[in-house]
Amino acid sequence: MLIDRLRRPLRDLRISVTDRCNFRCTYCMPADVYGAHYQFLPKRELLTFEEITRLARVFVRLGVVKLRITGGEPLVRAEIEKLAAQLAGIEGVEDIALTTNGYLLPQKAQALKEAGLSRVTVSLDSLDDAVFRRMNGGRSGVREVLDGIDAAERAGFSPIKINAVVQRGVNEHTIVDLARYFKARGHIVRFIEYMDVGSLNGWKLDAVVSADEIVAMIDAEMPLEPVAPNYPGEVANRYRYADGGGEIGVIASVTRPFCGACTRMRLSAEGSLYTCLFAVAGVDLKKPLRAGASDAELERRIRGVWGRRADRYSEVRSALTEPRPHKVEMYHIGG
Ligand code: GTP
Ligand code: 5AD
Ligand code: SF4
Ligand code: SF4
Repeated sequence: MLIDRLRRPLRDLRISVTDRCNFRCTYCMPADVYGAHYQFLPKRELLTFEEITRLARVFVRLGVVKLRITGGEPLVRAEIEKLAAQLAGIEGVEDIALTTNGYLLPQKAQALKEAGLSRVTVSLDSLDDAVFRRMNGGRSGVREVLDGIDAAERAGFSPIKINAVVQRGVNEHTIVDLARYFKARGHIVRFIEYMDVGSLNGWKLDAVVSADEIVAMIDAEMPLEPVAPNYPGEVANRYRYADGGGEIGVIASVTRPFCGACTRMRLSAEGSLYTCLFAVAGVDLKKPLRAGASDAELERRIRGVWGRRADRYSEVRSALTEPRPHKVEMYHIGG
């Protein structure tokens, strides 16, 4: 088995298929930075679906069992369902999920289901329309995303997970409503501590609402009890409602780091490998791929990258005296 320097195996591959997004969430792609003139990657720089699938096959041979399609916003990439179908055809893959802002799901959910996608996770930070619009740069109301979630449900995806980033003074007063709404519908909301990914969102520790606070707010209205993880190293800590009506998760990368069990490699849209969400640089695989490297050669490179890996950023963050400069931006590697 392939393990890194901290003895962690490689189990998951998160694949970013585009650096573009139709939203401008303030914590990810602030609109003043990513304006009309921002230069996104030209199409020729993006890995093709065939290139992605070829790499994914090599990763699966090295032990990967979980694939996640991300972005930017993965549904803005044309014919994304074709990639889902190609990935679903790889023997040895146990789970193929997709993380989306939901806006294009009414058009895409059915095709993705038919292609063999296992799961979708939809980001929705608030049910308060004004709050949500402020958080996504005015690109969408709540209704559009709820329509997307309904479309995913109709297409037969279950369970559906909802990701909500919580920021102090921005949407923390709306999280109990969000929990209540999706409790009634049987979807799993995961509240995410606001993270210092990238270097452009102006992250400050004061803006983080801790998992403890989040759980306390919800527990006060709808009592919760902790549940064991579904699998070792699950990113979210799970809680179920004491009345038996479903569960929530908290993703506490800031206050309860989970690097010790981090088995994730990230592949950017232009074909670079990142061994951590907070990395400053990737390792290019596209060049060798396009220069005709064999599968064995690609495998050797991937083994090298994972074998050298010693990242544990969330565990060391608080000991850093200076913020790490020039971290890769979230939309580049899909979180
Ligand atoms: P499941 O497979 O359903 O458990 O999903 P997931 O939680 O692995 O994936 P998702 O894309 O829904 O991620 C939810 C949040 O967790 C996002 O904000 C991610 O950026 C964050 N996250 C996922 N993996 C990592 C990680 O390795 N490190 C850190 N710090 N955050 C992560
Ligand atoms: N902190 C926490 N979560 C974030 N996401 C994007 N940027 C951040 C951040 N700075 C979330 C998105 C999406 C998931 C993939 O990552 O909202 O749900
Ligand atoms: Fe787009 Fe997701 Fe980033 Fe928001 S968090 S700007 S929806 S990629
Ligand atoms: Fe993995 Fe880096 Fe996140 Fe730690 S901070 S869990 S090493 S991606």
